[in-house]
Amino acid sequence: AWTPAAFVETIVHALKEQIGNDKVVLGLSGGVDSTVAATLLNKAIGKNLYCIFVNNGLLRKNEFESVLHQYKDMGLNVKGVDASERFLEALKNETDPERKRKAIGKAFIEVFDDEAHEVTDVDWLAQGTIYPDVIESVSVAGPSVTIKSHHNVGGLPDFMKLKIVEPLRMLFKDEVRRVGKELGIDPELLGRHPFPGPGLAIRILGDITAEKVRILQEVDFIFIDGLRKWGLYDKVWQAGAILLPINSVGVMGDERTYEKVVALRAVESTDGMTADWVNLPYEFLQEVSNNIINRVKGVNRVVYDISSKPPATIEWE
Ligand code: XMP
Repeated sequence: AWTPAAFVETIVHALKEQIGNDKVVLGLSGGVDSTVAATLLNKAIGKNLYCIFVNNGLLRKNEFESVLHQYKDMGLNVKGVDASERFLEALKNETDPERKRKAIGKAFIEVFDDEAHEVTDVDWLAQGTIYPDVIESVSVAGPSVTIKSHHNVGGLPDFMKLKIVEPLRMLFKDEVRRVGKELGIDPELLGRHPFPGPGLAIRILGDITAEKVRILQEVDFIFIDGLRKWGLYDKVWQAGAILLPINSVGVMGDERTYEKVVALRAVESTDGMTADWVNLPYEFLQEVSNNIINRVKGVNRVVYDISSKPPATIEWE
């Protein structure tokens, strides 16, 4: 029978054989797959693994700093690259969801290529591709997907000419989590909700500005933190907040306000292909809504998305 311990032993041995003394680059995303892939490679080849963690400025609040810190604590040879400004610039005036994705994919490739060039004599590109990514052309998450869907844009970036190593390509998601546990990776990191590669860019409907990103990060933080405090986080497959491109009228003291509306979305699912909205307790929604409206300047209304997939996708864009 398949066991995580036996898998780790076999794959680490195989990676050593395959890679020898070569150097490998890998893009970390903060997600489960790339983290487990990196940990396996670290076990096999240590400092010859060069991890690159790009901040696209569209991550959750504090995520870049805290996850980078965590990676360093795990002993990974990782470089954090803050490219927020570059992504924001690339997204300027983009309102169409697919164009946003393309702009982000392109910027990611450029940043990653620059960083991969910093590693002299690199031979391999490692990816956290898992089995469902291999069998589906469109899949759920990860930098691997971003890279693949864009490699026909212009000439191939140099890192794509590298040999590919994909230690997780035979595994399903639950197996990846079990391998991660076997490797001693923080259970909180392993239990994280999926988060889309384009990040908050596809949860800010319409054009993206630094101010909108900041507002959404605050709202999202209150929602996710609330789910954890109420013991609901692990009961939900994925959750997040969406910043709507409309203002609504409110009152504050004697004044009328005209401010942003946010939607909260939480779904149950097994693979993201279908999903049901989660019946969160009213008391929880009440507390989160109050906290958002009281603490986040610029937001005066909160709504909860009660649509299931199909037909409503998990993301709004
Ligand atoms: P939808 O919105 O299609 O989302 O129901 C299904 C799952 O895929 C994630 N998603 C993405 N992940 N790049 C990603 O890496 C993307 O462009 C993207 N779009 C959606 C979404 O968060 C959900 O988990």
